[in-house]
Formats: sequence, structure tokens, C-alpha cells
Amino acid sequence: MARLVKFDGLKPIKIEPQEKPIFVCACGLSQKFPICDGHHKGCAAEDPTRTYQYDAEGQNPREVAQGE
Ligand code: FES
Repeated sequence: MARLVKFDGLKPIKIEPQEKPIFVCACGLSQKFPICDGHHKGCAAEDPTRTYQYDAEGQNPREVAQGE
């Protein structure tokens, strides 16, 4: 079974339940999901009107047609 999940966040969600904040991945590219690992930097050049697909390592984005 495979699953495509659409994320449109460009940076993590910061929560501060303790002394140190926790950054939760909102881009879907983290290899340590749900914790941000910095992979969101790879989507900084995305056009917000387009849809992209990344490989299993959260790299090599390619633009896909809407609904693909
Ligand atoms: S927000 Fe996804 S890796 Fe940082």
C-alpha cells in the first residue's frame, strides 16, 4: 500500500510545553517525523501555486500536476 499526503507548511510548528521548545514538522519532509529535522529548508524555493513530490529521503522535488 502507498499513500500520498499533502503538506503545505514551509517551516515547523513551535510548541513550548517545557523549558526547551519542540519543533513539530509541518512540511512532511522530516526523516524524524513528527519532529522537525531541518529538511523543510529544501522546500524554500517552492512556488506556492504548484504541487511537488519528494523522494523517500525528502529530497529531489519534482513538480506534479494537480491531482496527480
Ligand atoms: S518543518 Fe518539516 S523538517 Fe522542518
